[in-house]
Amino acid sequence: MKRAEIEHWLRETDGARLDELWQRADAVRREHVGDAVHLRGLIEISNVCGRACAYCGIRSGNRQLERYRLTTRELLECMRRALALGYGTLVLQGGEDPALDPEWLASIIRRVKARTSLAVTLSLGERSPNELALWRNAGADRYLLRFETSDRDLFARLHPSRPGRSSDRIALLGTLRELGYETGSGVMVGLPGQTYTSLARDIELFGELDLDMIGVGPYIAHPATPLAEHEADFRAAPGEQTPNTELMTCKVVALARLVCPRSNIPATTALATISADGRALGLLRGANVIMPNITPLRYRALYDIYPDKACLHEDADTFDMELKTRIAAIGRCVATGQGESPNCTARRQSAACAWN
Ligand code: 5AD
Repeated sequence: MKRAEIEHWLRETDGARLDELWQRADAVRREHVGDAVHLRGLIEISNVCGRACAYCGIRSGNRQLERYRLTTRELLECMRRALALGYGTLVLQGGEDPALDPEWLASIIRRVKARTSLAVTLSLGERSPNELALWRNAGADRYLLRFETSDRDLFARLHPSRPGRSSDRIALLGTLRELGYETGSGVMVGLPGQTYTSLARDIELFGELDLDMIGVGPYIAHPATPLAEHEADFRAAPGEQTPNTELMTCKVVALARLVCPRSNIPATTALATISADGRALGLLRGANVIMPNITPLRYRALYDIYPDKACLHEDADTFDMELKTRIAAIGRCVATGQGESPNCTARRQSAACAWN
């Protein structure tokens, strides 16, 4: 699908046409990744961050926020919880914590991989190729790094770079792929300054990057950020600015499914935050993954990337029961195993064939 057609869908308002989009996305989802929903245990390992992303509540400039980093013992406790709940993947997410010892994390990854059959996904921001290689060699399977927007000017305005180091997340996604990670990316929907044309380009880029995983959620203003404070300075012209709504997010999920039929696409916590049945809606419009939060409850509120996150008070065991009921209620089932994306499986197979 080309950019113009994608943009046309993003601007579509006719209910019957949109029903067509939802049905197409749902049919493509069923054909390529099936009815089983993969559950990933999400552990927010540290809210310490050295970066100053304009939209993010855990940015270094937010001095109101108490900071934490999980201990080895807490992390292994989360791992046991994920196993008990039957999850096949652990997602270790965190800020760009300068004091997070790469060797310590490598030792945790080695322990998880030696003791369990869990897949390990990392989501720790822009890290050096050396660190990424260390963790990959330790056994990490996947890496998530959203490029947030394909509009380079907007990206630069929202992401002040570190002194002497410019950030190029598209290039870093290439590095991750070369290191053998199953690679995921994504964007926020309705960022102030994001136009329909640039959002259409983002979705086109999902296909060009041949992503294995695509996470998209609505932008949610956090009061302790420059973007919330100066939103008016960022906004695109009326008629060009994308809205950060449930509808626009669902369109992006559905279009991502059409552009990348074999990738794993979560119904995100951000979508569930702005819409009471966001998770079910996402699953019905192209998504096939849910990432239940299994971070110890006492730290949940401190991973404050945006306000009122849907998972704030969701105890892992209670949420798990409710979730499994809701998945069954929409006629789907819970997947078992690691749940590598068919996109990645096919790429690995064709690489193996090329060698034979
Ligand atoms: N609103 C919505 N999503 C946000 N993220 C960070 N801040 C916000 C916000 N204010 C998303 C980013 C990041 C992911 C972990 O969380 O897309 O990649």
